[in-house]
Amino acid sequence: MGGKQGRRRQDHLARRAQSEGYHARSVYKLQAIQRKFRVLPARGDTTGRAPGRGSDAAGRALGPGVLDLGAAPGSWTQFVVEHMGRDASPGGSGSAPAVLAVDLQELDLPGAICLQGDFTEPETAMRIRAHAPFRVVLSDAAPATTGNRVVDTGRSEVLVESILAHLPEWLAPGGNLVCKLFQGGGEQALLGSLRARFSAAHLHRPEAVRRESFETYLVGLGYHGPGEPARNGAASSGGNQ
Ligand SMILES: C[S@@+](CC[C@H](N)C(=O)[O-])C[C@H]1O[C@@H](n2cnc3c(N)ncnc32)[C@H](O)[C@@H]1O
Repeated sequence: MGGKQGRRRQDHLARRAQSEGYHARSVYKLQAIQRKFRVLPARGDTTGRAPGRGSDAAGRALGPGVLDLGAAPGSWTQFVVEHMGRDASPGGSGSAPAVLAVDLQELDLPGAICLQGDFTEPETAMRIRAHAPFRVVLSDAAPATTGNRVVDTGRSEVLVESILAHLPEWLAPGGNLVCKLFQGGGEQALLGSLRARFSAAHLHRPEAVRRESFETYLVGLGYHGPGEPARNGAASSGGNQ
């Protein structure tokens, strides 16, 4: 898809997002990732959750099922809430939030607990941990761009590395990860890091990504958890790459 035809399609997605009530056209990227990789559990699927309503085996309160990092203005959170229902916990009444949405900007999104802060900062990371473990960690977080590709991709990689470092605290074993990355040469190394942590790892660039954008998404399926050794042979670099 290129030139005028490409731009028309992009404009179409922005208009479509507005008419469908989504806060951003980014929603179509997550929808495409969901269609291809099934990263979000189906509504009512309690696999991977601790049994019982309201607390896990250790008596900790069950938090939201999904962590959405860099969530503003909120279209990914909107989609997750629609997809999973407001309450992702087993036997849920429909009143508990499905998502913990985190951003530097203030957020107010139905069906989500909203947290304002920088997730790379220890204090915010600790506040996130209070709601863990999650079944899915999503990140569409993007650094403020400078126009210098080396600087911008470097900053994007720092965000991804911070998320990978926090996975043992945030993501439940068996869980999935979707993480935006600006392509600048570091993507194969980061894909390798995912391969060591997940049963399958992919780099995927959904069609809804603007043609001129250098963003792509890392997708990790089936987190091994903190205690498990790396299984380097078990991953693939499939997707559309
Ligand atoms: C492309 S937008 C996300 C769009 C969102 N997925 C949606 O569907 O509406 C990127 C967001 O990442 C946030 N962000 C960047 N770095 C962050 C950080 N360290 N902590 C929290 N949010 C961050 C920005 O504030 C921005 O709102």
